[in-house]
Amino acid sequence: MAGVCVIGLQWGDEAKGKLVDLLTGQFDIVVRYQGGANAGHTVVAGDKTYKLHQIPSGVLTPGVMNVVGPGVVLNPPVIIEEMDRLISQGVKFEGNLMLSDRAHVVLPWHIAEDQMLDKTATTDGESIGTTLRGIGPCYRDKVGRSYAVRLGDFYRDSFRQRIAGIVEAKKKMLAGISGESVSLDAAAICDEFHRYGERLAPHVGDTTAYLLDAVEAGKRLLFEGAQGALLDVDHGTYPYVTSSNSSGVGVSAGSGVPGRWIEKVIGVIKAYTTRVGGGPFPTELKDDVGSHIRERGREYGTTTGRPRRCGWFDAVAARYTARLSGVDSLSLMMMDVLSELPQINVCVAYEVDGVRTDRFPSHADDLRRAVPVYETLPGWQQDVTRVRRMEDFPANARSYIDRISQLIGRPVEVVSVGPDRQQTIFASGALSSVT
Ligand code: IMP
Repeated sequence: MAGVCVIGLQWGDEAKGKLVDLLTGQFDIVVRYQGGANAGHTVVAGDKTYKLHQIPSGVLTPGVMNVVGPGVVLNPPVIIEEMDRLISQGVKFEGNLMLSDRAHVVLPWHIAEDQMLDKTATTDGESIGTTLRGIGPCYRDKVGRSYAVRLGDFYRDSFRQRIAGIVEAKKKMLAGISGESVSLDAAAICDEFHRYGERLAPHVGDTTAYLLDAVEAGKRLLFEGAQGALLDVDHGTYPYVTSSNSSGVGVSAGSGVPGRWIEKVIGVIKAYTTRVGGGPFPTELKDDVGSHIRERGREYGTTTGRPRRCGWFDAVAARYTARLSGVDSLSLMMMDVLSELPQINVCVAYEVDGVRTDRFPSHADDLRRAVPVYETLPGWQQDVTRVRRMEDFPANARSYIDRISQLIGRPVEVVSVGPDRQQTIFASGALSSVT
């Protein structure tokens, strides 16, 4: 058995990057399999802070191979900029990065379309509030097929002709959406992306075959999820989701590695909840407590800098996504952020139209009407950033961790009390099956 997955169970930004970085040394290959430049993973190592968008966090650990699978949508100039920034921070790219030739490419018209459409509200009056990185339009072209461009197409003789044909069609489409003529210069785009293709060429290959060979040879794979399961296009809070399968169900489709090779799924949650962009958020706090959590947790987007909406921990949502993602154990992040609060609420059920339920609604309209039913727990009001063993947490913090574990029905194996690698507590025997 070869694979371990790290999946965010909320609306993204659960600090998955930190956990992946800590686990990476135990693996041969780190795999990104969905999402694109919309993701933002921050890893703090010593005095250095690394910000990753499309490149797997494994590049920070020498000797580990990093694979970007076919389910990812790649933005070439952004990935090149990311590589250059990492190189300037001392990271080496010497045979340790492979990008799938099947991965779809985000092109200028995708970004233009995302910017045009995001101004348009969805049917229930709220806009999705995307990251404006062209993610949705690129995935739409992937599924639509006629106007799609994959990384492998860059190296075919038909590349220029293909781009020219798509540009003509896209100009008409974008003009239809915006009501204005749109300038896209096919020749300039071809030249620019040809240069990117040349730069990336040493890293491009058939990652599906590579990963299948790897699992059959007994290599150990760490799958690094992007976004969170509540943003899953099929199972999340549609239409306020991203355009890929960001829950655990997306791992196989996006990487090409069948589920039979997956040994363990670790669900990552924050001790509270955040969301960026539009959409229902039953436990949202629009008061001083929400602002306190935002400031203490530095809850501003890694990719867009937007302030994140903050609220209480929602156990109804997390239990749903833990089941959906096949989670074995939990990693509870940002415990230190709640340290000053005298009382902490946890949402244990919803009331929808006066009816109590512990089921997560399948329609955004119902979720919008869901009123959280809270259980109030006493805060610990003590600094926990120096805690290094589970038994050293204040009693109320222990009770909070235990209650979350009980509500989700999974053990908490890891607790994080700060951004640094050292500020991580593993339950005794935790992750032994992956070490
Ligand atoms: P898109 O993925 O840019 O299309 O954005 C769709 C929704 O997903 C928006 O609400 C974004 O704020 C959200 N989203 C996308 N990527 C992330 C992420 O990495 N963290 C948190 N939210 C995200």
